[in-house]
Amino acid sequence: MSTTTSQLSHVYPLGSRVNDRGHLEIAGCDAVALAREFGTPAYVVAEEDLRARARAFVDALAAQQSDYEVVFASKAFPCTAVYRVLADEGLGCDVASGGELFLALRGGFDPARIYFHGNAKSEAELLEALDAGVGHIVLDSFDELDRLERLAGDRGSRQRVLIRVTPNVAGDTHRAISTGQEDSKFGFSVHEAPRAIERLRGLPHVDLVGLHFHIGSQLFELDPFRRAVRAIAALGDFPVYNLGGGLGVAYTGSQHPPTIGAYVESVVSALHAQLGADKRLLLEPGRALVANSTVTLYTVQTVKRNVSTWVAVDGGMSDNLRPMLYDSVYEAIIADRVRAPATERCEIAGKHCESGDVLVRNARLPDPAPGDVLATPATGAYGYSLANNYNGVPRAPVIFCRDGDARVVVRRETYADLAARDVG
Ligand code: LLP
Repeated sequence: MSTTTSQLSHVYPLGSRVNDRGHLEIAGCDAVALAREFGTPAYVVAEEDLRARARAFVDALAAQQSDYEVVFASKAFPCTAVYRVLADEGLGCDVASGGELFLALRGGFDPARIYFHGNAKSEAELLEALDAGVGHIVLDSFDELDRLERLAGDRGSRQRVLIRVTPNVAGDTHRAISTGQEDSKFGFSVHEAPRAIERLRGLPHVDLVGLHFHIGSQLFELDPFRRAVRAIAALGDFPVYNLGGGLGVAYTGSQHPPTIGAYVESVVSALHAQLGADKRLLLEPGRALVANSTVTLYTVQTVKRNVSTWVAVDGGMSDNLRPMLYDSVYEAIIADRVRAPATERCEIAGKHCESGDVLVRNARLPDPAPGDVLATPATGAYGYSLANNYNGVPRAPVIFCRDGDARVVVRRETYADLAARDVG
């Protein structure tokens, strides 16, 4: 008899369950078997979860807004296979560097549906964007505005742009990922924006079509989004409004962010109230599209019982930097005995040479032992993208699962890869 998903919190990918053997199962694939087949650590992605969340955004917008686009903020999971899935679901794409542009094109995005962001775009990157025929560049500074006008002028083209505005609204989130405040490295303040708008009006090679804001990330409150819409509505009337990303996700079972539907309904109603229903509305989610699609699998290497119980795994801050950067919280389970009473309080440590390399504090596990496969859910956003080679640890593979089939979409790094850029 199969058990229900009730033993797993809502942070696991849609379609996850505890199977007849008491093992974690993701998209029909037994997590213990995945660990055996592909090794650990590994990012395991439920492809249907990605698709379902993309559709949830599209359907929620389609129900309320005639002209809209859902734009994947690809910094959250810049992996070719993820780009492919989300391009296939009909999304647009936000890139924040020439590298992300390269990956988005490789993943099949139509350049016309790409939005090029960044507070320090280089001349080379702007040229790459112009060469690729990127639909919109999101202007972030007066320096960039002049640079783009000159570069587009050199080739006799006219580039559509949005202006990024910091609406002086701060959401309740970690300060490292709060971006809406006036004094920011991003965008134009509401005081500077009118001057930028004025400047752009007279320019022949840059075509201003609208405004953009992104007030921050991992936000649970909807009111800051509405206040930000109010702030930018005062800057004039444009055909296009991009309200950025930022919708928070649940990392643990006790967290309950607004649903995609509630978020969309809130921002659409704010837009309609302030600017009318005839605008083109763009939303730019990253985390809310990809975070809960993924579970990272590790193997426990050592268990040390001193003051605390230290359970050390074969990954850590090289595959998930978020606990160290933002004090982010995660859950963990042992994948082959999900139903066992989780009685022991543990600190789940990474393998890196820093005391701060702790993936989960205050986890509860059922008598952990070396060899156990440990799973941390909700690692799809900013895990792969912030991955690094600290301590010469090869980066983890990405495994896509669907209907019981698993395939490697990014292979594990090798030691040879670690030396691949050496030239002497
Ligand atoms: N649009 C722009 C212009 C952005 O800068 C971002 C994120 C997004 C959209 C998507 O935001 P999201 O929907 O994912 O919240 N590394 C941090 C998050 C940095 C977010 C940077 N910008 C973390 O792991 O929490």
